[in-house]
Amino acid sequence: MRASLTAITEELQRLKAAGVRSVPVTDEALRRLRAQVAGRRAEAGEAAAPAPAAAAAPVEAPRRMPREETPVTAVPPAAAKLPPPPEVSLPEGAKAARWAALRELVLNDPVCRAHVKPGKQVVFGVGNIDARLMFVGEAPGAEEEVQGEPFVGPAGQLLTKMIQGMGLQRSDVYIGNIMNWRPEIPGSGPGGQVGNRPPTEEEMRYCLPYLRAQIEVVAPALLVALGKTAVEGLLGFNRFKTLGEARGRWHEFAGRPLMVTYHPSYILREPTNKKKRLIWEDLLQVMEKAGLPISEKQRGYFLGK
Ligand code: URA
Repeated sequence: MRASLTAITEELQRLKAAGVRSVPVTDEALRRLRAQVAGRRAEAGEAAAPAPAAAAAPVEAPRRMPREETPVTAVPPAAAKLPPPPEVSLPEGAKAARWAALRELVLNDPVCRAHVKPGKQVVFGVGNIDARLMFVGEAPGAEEEVQGEPFVGPAGQLLTKMIQGMGLQRSDVYIGNIMNWRPEIPGSGPGGQVGNRPPTEEEMRYCLPYLRAQIEVVAPALLVALGKTAVEGLLGFNRFKTLGEARGRWHEFAGRPLMVTYHPSYILREPTNKKKRLIWEDLLQVMEKAGLPISEKQRGYFLGK
């Protein structure tokens, strides 16, 4: 029982830090909660008093809702108003120390942490801090928030193959995301995440200074934006009607050339040579600009049916 009260308290604190100001609770849930708290106090020989869960997590008093109005899902953190984006200031000094300081800052950011369920992690960029090439994705998914590393799930495995196709190793490049937490489709209870959703503009705006700071520290020569969210985050929300308008062309971000291409998950959904070739042609442009050697074999990848 203590464990479940602690879990509720942590969840309320997490929601509060994420900006949620009220939590709908059914009469029945409230009755059970009170019974649990009363039981715990009785065990401890204390007189009945206000619920410690509510006291420890000072969100507004739960708003009672008739059962039929109770949402099936919890209030999504995305609905919450976020504080203004962080102002990042890094210490002077060696690149590795600056990167490590930035990583600590992000991993301990209370807003990022508030969006991460117990046992899951805020996700910071990974790779070679001297990389000439940096890939920017959307947001951590289920695997990434468990391992605390970008692109380690199915899309990440495909990204690794793309990097290898370019004649590089994953450890040669730097990989970051627009978002440092997994935008969730809320499940029906604590820990009940059921899927990813695209981040909101506000969420992207919140995390963007952290990506900018990584670009500033790593200072890659070239950037590659993977998919629509990365493009929206870097080049502006609603700037392009479709990703097709932006992909395969050089743009600029933070004074660096930026190639736009599809997200690897697009290929996972439609694994045809035609689609693979589209991404590959974008990556050939990146290789050319980076001065990487390109063999005839590489030039011909995915030309077959
Ligand atoms: N998709 C992304 O955009 N980023 C990840 O880290 C994983 C999947």
